[in-house]
Amino acid sequence: MSENKMRAIICEKYGSPEVLKLAQIEKPFPQKNEILIKIYSTAVTSSDTYIRRLNILPLFYRIMAGLFVGFGKPRNPILGMIVSGVIVETGKGVTRFKKGDEVFGTTVLNGIHTNLGTYADYKCLPEKSYITLKPNNMNFIESAAIVFGGSIAIWCFDKTGFPYDYNKSAKGIKVLVYGASGSVGTSLVQIASYFGAEVTAVCSSSNFELLKSLGASKFIDYKTDDFTLTGETWDYIFDAVGYKKSKEYVKNYKRALSSVGKFHSVDDGSPKNSEKQMMILKNITESGALTPVIDKIYSLDQIVMAHQYVDQGHKKGNVIINL
Ligand SMILES: NC(=O)c1ccc[n+]([C@@H]2O[C@H](COP(=O)([O-])OP(=O)(O)OC[C@H]3O[C@@H](n4cnc5c(N)ncnc54)[C@H](OP(=O)(O)O)[C@@H]3O)[C@@H](O)[C@H]2O)c1
Repeated sequence: MSENKMRAIICEKYGSPEVLKLAQIEKPFPQKNEILIKIYSTAVTSSDTYIRRLNILPLFYRIMAGLFVGFGKPRNPILGMIVSGVIVETGKGVTRFKKGDEVFGTTVLNGIHTNLGTYADYKCLPEKSYITLKPNNMNFIESAAIVFGGSIAIWCFDKTGFPYDYNKSAKGIKVLVYGASGSVGTSLVQIASYFGAEVTAVCSSSNFELLKSLGASKFIDYKTDDFTLTGETWDYIFDAVGYKKSKEYVKNYKRALSSVGKFHSVDDGSPKNSEKQMMILKNITESGALTPVIDKIYSLDQIVMAHQYVDQGHKKGNVIINL
């Protein structure tokens, strides 16, 4: 391959995983305030597969998502929003980063998915993107595995005022995470329990051992038990599954909230990222509050298999593409 070319996964129409094709295309070149990142690892997130199958979403969601990513076909034919890699070039106006910096982050700005494109060897991003130096205790694969779930978990905590501070003010607080075994769920469980909360994990019973190792102390299988009918109450209930997929009983969450309890669902608005959030993510990862949960690692040319797996909705933590 010539040095002006790169590998990328092209998605020219919405549909099943097979619409994703490996291709060789022109390598991008950074503009004045942009950085060029050589991508070492990215992730296949539940949001990636949501975008890819936009054509079969209910009309309302098709319109809402289409506004950002394109109607009929993706505006940017390269999907992917998670990046972990090295800065290999900087535009003349760049001051935040330098060549050689090892970074991680997301292409999503303010919850808006207009700038995808990480299923590729290289990606140009404005230096003001939600990118920061990667945690010093993580390699590229591990860093890619903490961005999606970790940043959404922090958004959930900030929305509800859950205290994730080093004074352990969360000690004794009761937290329930619905959908505890996914990317978002495993992050919520780890951070909440690290900062002192008593965490109940709701997921399939086959994942109880995993959640125990991540800090949860109580477990409920959503397939057989309704957590709103246990008689127990929680101070924070986080729905990490979303209204579209959750069982009916998530709608009855109020009867499982304590008198001062707070509820937040991943589907309550579009998760917002920020530079500050990426710094928090880096810091709590370096402190040991968050470790990567990696289910499977695929190569770029196995992208169809990776999407087929994520489509099933039962990955444990994260699915990584290693370039
Ligand atoms: N609103 C937004 O803008 C936005 C943005 C990002 C993500 N999200 C949503 O956030 C959710 C979590 O993302 P993720 O990447 O963490 O997902 P994920 O890794 O696929 O995890 C899914 C979790 O949901 C559980 N689950 C699957 N089907 C279920 C069902 N019918 N009832 C109850 N639990 C079920 C799984 O449990 P088991 O495997 O143990 O059965 C697992 O814990 C996704 O649904 C995604 O669409 C929304």
